[in-house]
Amino acid sequence: MRAHGLFPFFDCAYQGFATGSLVEDNFAIRHFEQEGFELVIAQSFAKNMGLYGQRVGAFHYVTPAGPDAQEVTQRISSQLSIIQRSELSSPPIYGAKIASIILNDEQLFAEWEDDLRTMAGRIKGMRKALRLELERLQTPGTWKHVTSQIGMFSFTGLNKEQVAELRNRWHVYMAETGRISVAGLNEHNVAYFARAVDDVVRRVE
Ligand SMILES: Cc1ncc(COP(=O)(O)O)c(C=O)c1O
Repeated sequence: MRAHGLFPFFDCAYQGFATGSLVEDNFAIRHFEQEGFELVIAQSFAKNMGLYGQRVGAFHYVTPAGPDAQEVTQRISSQLSIIQRSELSSPPIYGAKIASIILNDEQLFAEWEDDLRTMAGRIKGMRKALRLELERLQTPGTWKHVTSQIGMFSFTGLNKEQVAELRNRWHVYMAETGRISVAGLNEHNVAYFARAVDDVVRRVE
């Protein structure tokens, strides 16, 4: 990025969902920061705090170290105030207050970290269960990608026609791209889902 003169803009919407650790998941951001990059981050708490619909997140700007760093941040802050005033004016506050309470309380923060570990662990568990079940059924194709991909979403590899068949025959609903939210799987439906995938893969090319 340095060689090409690019400006790093991070979209951070699922922090904690990949490894279960906030710190490990933001390795890339810390790395760029340690390398002395000027950067911005758009951070969402919609998913990792379960605050969908509350429009809660944060915009971070990191200035490179230097004698004019403070002046730069002041100018950025003033520009952001102008943009926010014209674009949003009065943003929703309820979710932001919840996030602020959690982020500023040691005990609640630790609880939140625990919850993230639980959620990430469950997602990993579901990935494992799905792959195991597809392999047990000897569903045609390879299913390693189910466990090698990380985070909340997974590309199943199913095509548009197979996705339609899943919907019509099995009442399983997913994006036409074959992308699923792994969080939608649980120990009660994962076997049904695998059986449905197995069926459509065999039935539809
Ligand atoms: C990668 C990514 N970035 C940003 C967002 C949007 O976050 P928010 O709903 O907090 O604007 C989403 C999902 O909605 C997302 O998947």
